[in-house]
Amino acid sequence: MSSLPFRRQRPRRNRKSAALRGFHSETWLGPQHFIYPLFVHPGSGRIPIESMPGCSRHDMAGLLEEVEAAWAVGVRSVVLFPAIEESKKTHRAEESANPAGLIPVAIAKLKERWPELCVVTDVALDPYSSDGHDGLVAPDGRILNDETIEILCEQALCQAAAGADMIAPSDMMDGRVGAIRDALDGGGFTEVSILSYTAKYASAFYGPFREALDSAPKAGDKKTYQMDPSNAREALRELALDEAEGADMVMVKPAGAYLDVIKSLREATALPVAAYQVSGEYAMLKAACERGWLDEKKVVLESLTAIRRAGADVILSYYARQVGEWLSGS
Ligand code: PBG
Repeated sequence: MSSLPFRRQRPRRNRKSAALRGFHSETWLGPQHFIYPLFVHPGSGRIPIESMPGCSRHDMAGLLEEVEAAWAVGVRSVVLFPAIEESKKTHRAEESANPAGLIPVAIAKLKERWPELCVVTDVALDPYSSDGHDGLVAPDGRILNDETIEILCEQALCQAAAGADMIAPSDMMDGRVGAIRDALDGGGFTEVSILSYTAKYASAFYGPFREALDSAPKAGDKKTYQMDPSNAREALRELALDEAEGADMVMVKPAGAYLDVIKSLREATALPVAAYQVSGEYAMLKAACERGWLDEKKVVLESLTAIRRAGADVILSYYARQVGEWLSGS
């Protein structure tokens, strides 16, 4: 009985001590693997986001404090999202390219204080659009691709001029990566990178984010530009286009429910792969942990490790600062 052949192989022997487990741990998390998404608003003070406990819309002083705390625990990159006053939202989203707007001012302040911080900026019209869409809306409700790209290029140039290190188009218009690359190069910003939202799905997990920016579509949905959650092959088509158009990094969004897509991009490209653990993923984890149903530190580190194991080099996560604190023991 005790010498049955299948017991010659005992995988548990390699798990018997921390030292042995340490030999063959395949995936690790460090604060350098994170981009920290932050919300800014034009008023003063900190406005909590109800469906994202622990996250707020910051004023400039609050933004600097938050980045200071994240920097102190090793986080070296942020991505900025603006909560724009309703009165500044227009059909053509003109505010998106205002050099004195919220985002350009925030970029300049951050780069002045931390020249080594990698400041990533979102390119899309939705925070600035009175229609709540990432693109320009035609009278019949269609989203106009090429007309949108012209505005996106102006937005990208405005952010680059303010000092952004990496432009991240999240709009999903066809051909925008190439057009933004040309616009940046034409403007002399050859060193500004593009992190493309390559496989961005039409996901219900973005709900809390839209609450934070009050940016939900006024009519219709985003299914004519964001990808169908039932599709994986299509992500490879988007990848091929983004690579050809000059993307420096590619992204999958959301992350947790799309680990297979992260893996397939990882296997198909030599570019760095990013994954966005979005607002709804954060909200789910937070809600269960606040009720004491899950152990927050363990479950968050496990979910982020899984995203790295699937093949993500870098993760956009609202938990970035917290993870830095956990990992540094502070
Ligand atoms: C829109 C944008 C969205 C997010 C990032 N950029 C929402 C959307 O597409 O409606 C979502 C991020 C999150 O949920 O955390 N350009």
